[in-house]
Amino acid sequence: MIVRQTESLFYTLLNNEWMGSSSGETVQIYSPDDHEVVGEVPALSQEEVAVAIQKTADAQELWAAKEVYERSALLHRWAEELEKMTDEIGEMIHKEVGKTFSAGKSEVERTAQLIRYTAEEGLRTHGSFIQGDAFPGATKKTKAIVQKVPHGVVLAISPFNYPVNLAASKIAPALITGNTVIFKPATQGAISGLLMIKALVKAGLPEGVVNVVTGRGSVIGDFIVSHPLINMITFTGGTATGQHIAKKASMIPVVLELGGKDSAIVLEDADLNKAAKEIVSGALSYSGQRCTAIKRVMVVNSVADELIEKVKELVSKLTVGKSHEDASVTPLIDQKSADFVTSLIEDAQTKGATVVLEGIKEKNLLGPTLLDHVTEEMAVAWEEQFGPVLPFIRVENELEAIALEKRNQYGLQASVFTRNLENAFAISDKLNVGTVQVNGKTSRGPDHFPFLGVKNSGQGVQGIGRSIDSMLRDKMLVLNL
Ligand code: NAP
Ligand code: G3H
Repeated sequence: MIVRQTESLFYTLLNNEWMGSSSGETVQIYSPDDHEVVGEVPALSQEEVAVAIQKTADAQELWAAKEVYERSALLHRWAEELEKMTDEIGEMIHKEVGKTFSAGKSEVERTAQLIRYTAEEGLRTHGSFIQGDAFPGATKKTKAIVQKVPHGVVLAISPFNYPVNLAASKIAPALITGNTVIFKPATQGAISGLLMIKALVKAGLPEGVVNVVTGRGSVIGDFIVSHPLINMITFTGGTATGQHIAKKASMIPVVLELGGKDSAIVLEDADLNKAAKEIVSGALSYSGQRCTAIKRVMVVNSVADELIEKVKELVSKLTVGKSHEDASVTPLIDQKSADFVTSLIEDAQTKGATVVLEGIKEKNLLGPTLLDHVTEEMAVAWEEQFGPVLPFIRVENELEAIALEKRNQYGLQASVFTRNLENAFAISDKLNVGTVQVNGKTSRGPDHFPFLGVKNSGQGVQGIGRSIDSMLRDKMLVLNL
């Protein structure tokens, strides 16, 4: 099975054959750690993408005709093969997107578990039955069987920050329900995605059921998204890209998991040690490059000094360095991302924020920066930083925090830290987000929990059960007896 054609070139998958592009064009992928080339993937042309989509459409009817236990068995074998490749894929995640090796391996392990759960949950999918006598003049003799059928060809587009997990969390539910899949990995992360698909081929993937298209989203993205043979799109990535895709894709279901500006609201009666610990891990894991990272803290004045001191103490203990050094805070995905974070810090400083802790700045490696007295005039109060800067906004009380949260363009998650659960529930009712975490950091998972964003954070719901639902539509069969 030749996935790797030369020392650096990784092929893409078409009908179970590993292929380059006919032009020989490739996209190079650079390590965030040292900017060395990690490898390259084919830059497919639109014509090649069209062939891949056609092959995926051709394979769909046969795949959907298989019994669900057969599709489930393939997913179980996929999970097994993936686990055997944990070190290899974990290392590639580490090299391509700058996670530590252990974080890369954890991503692979989490993904195998997610696939197994999907294989089980998919067995329990069923339709329903409705009698027709609910309206005057109607009769029980009219009976409807509501069947659940696949959409057809699902386009799965993944982001760089979970190149394996956020790809499999789309592909597995699509497959278990009888859809075939065109997988467009994020360019930065594409090799990890291809290795994950290699595990699926080893597991016995039938020809054409999954095809992979590599190349820059900016070049081939619009063509794929608006292709008439694509029947459903599931996307995770930035809000601007997601909104663009939603406009291009007309008349098909589109599930979007987009950006976030998750707030932690810390009240006077909070356990401040716990809050500080959760905030640090929530804000700075993978250097803040998580949609669910805590991206601003709203803390009531009376405990602000104490909380910030505790956070500072914990952050000061974090190591900053390369991902191969197993540091806690590692280089951002690229220089553009680092420049954006730096510009947010500078804007806040110019407008009067206090720098509680200043992180180093060495190219795309930024140490954590803590900003106090952040006000609503500062961009860092509202923009998604996707990096290791944490703004603290001091508020009088929870009402002020709720009012600020209402103006958040994003609505992924929020955390509320308080010992008063009744109050936590009352605040939760007022927050327009997908999930409110009480006394814990914002995060996706466990992976069978529904996961969603509102406002600019997305549309539709993921999490294993809901992702399976999103891959199916109703088909009515009505008996008129
Ligand atoms: P991105 O730049 O939006 O890219 C996401 C994916 O879209 C990549 O595969 C990209 O391909 C592709 N793409 C780009 N332009 C496209 C087009 N015109 N048509 C179709 N596909 C296109 O996002 P990212 O930088 O990978 O991830 C960071 C962002 O994702 C952050 O905003 C973060 O909050 C968000 N995110 C959200 C969640 C969530 O669950 N809510 C999870 C993870 C990340 P290329 O790589 O080839 O450009
Ligand atoms: O980046 C977005 C991911 O969906 C976040 O997942 O909360 O498990 O890190 P996580």
